[in-house]
Amino acid sequence: MEIKDNIFGAFVNTFGEGGDIRVYFAPGRVNLIGEHTDYNGGHVFPCALTIGTYAVARQRRDRRLRLFSSNFRDLGIIESDLDDLKPYPEADWTNYVKGIIWAFKEKGMEVDKGMDLMLYGNIPNGSGLSSSASVEVLTGFILRDLFGFDVTNLDLALIGQFSENKFNGVNCGIMDQFAIAMGKKEQAMFLDTATLDYKYAPVKLAGMKIVISCSNKKRGLADSKYNERRSECEKALEELKKKVDIETLGDLTPEEFDKISDTLKDEVIRKRAKHAVYENARTVSAVEALNANDITRFGQLMNESHVSLRDDYEVTGIELDTLVEEAWKVEGVVGSRMTGAGFGGCTVSIVKTPYIDRFKEAVGAAYLERIGYAADFYVVEIGDGPSRLK
Ligand code: GLA
Repeated sequence: MEIKDNIFGAFVNTFGEGGDIRVYFAPGRVNLIGEHTDYNGGHVFPCALTIGTYAVARQRRDRRLRLFSSNFRDLGIIESDLDDLKPYPEADWTNYVKGIIWAFKEKGMEVDKGMDLMLYGNIPNGSGLSSSASVEVLTGFILRDLFGFDVTNLDLALIGQFSENKFNGVNCGIMDQFAIAMGKKEQAMFLDTATLDYKYAPVKLAGMKIVISCSNKKRGLADSKYNERRSECEKALEELKKKVDIETLGDLTPEEFDKISDTLKDEVIRKRAKHAVYENARTVSAVEALNANDITRFGQLMNESHVSLRDDYEVTGIELDTLVEEAWKVEGVVGSRMTGAGFGGCTVSIVKTPYIDRFKEAVGAAYLERIGYAADFYVVEIGDGPSRLK
């Protein structure tokens, strides 16, 4: 049975039959290159995945929200109300759903009826493949479909980011929600986060696959560290603006940055800014390389991206470094780097298909030996944005 039929059945078992029951999907995402550039006015190059979050939804007559996730069965049905749209720690994952309903209201689109909603995600939770942004975009997509709001997919991305920033307190950039809302099969998105101009770029990996290695490290303080990096970059920008006429760190080329970098007296701040500037340039070069079918060069730039995230941006940690450094040793690996916010989560590698089993064995064994628990591996495909399935 297909996932959409399974989850439909589970919805009926949980919430009962009747009414207009609809089924939806929104993908997860992986970023190929361009990390921690999206809140620095730089470029990113993510793609949507064929794994993601499934939802079954039905409007209610009253103002209740009854929310259930089969990934968090122990939490049971979490109930809430349209008159109480506030984040509560015990509301757990449902804060992402409520955040979107709240954000629609803030943008003048008031939801006036409650919902029964069931979710099932096949993105590993907390893996850095944006399960939360997937839930956000999915919720927006459902609200549009159920209540007839006039919003584009790009609006859904912006609303998702707004709710994450203002309702859930993570100062994230636009990349995740954009990649999910705008995803296209077999294409990555080259997005300029300063202007929101974007281009699709076909990812033709003849004889190769994208392999995600999941560290299974609990994310812990990731959100506060993320916000800390963001304010470090803001500090750098403020200092550099005294020297040059720029709006964002993404306005600087590496050469321009090198000329003025000693304005930044604090070494840590200087390293953060250096990453933001160089990573942006690497992303532009990587897309050029991919368009020229130079996948070897693309892979080298992925590797350089990891080194910069490890040494200058300091968001990797022993788990991600082990996964990447072990991957680099394996024959058939074109490139490998951490992906997403870091501090745990996943790495992304491009691996020649005949070497994938060897990759999983070698990296998996070394990881277990060094870290003490196992990593998981997923061979992924690039998929479309959100859709209604039934
Ligand atoms: C998280 C954020 C994104 C982006 C990445 C790092 O995924 O949600 O906006 O900043 O980290 O590139």
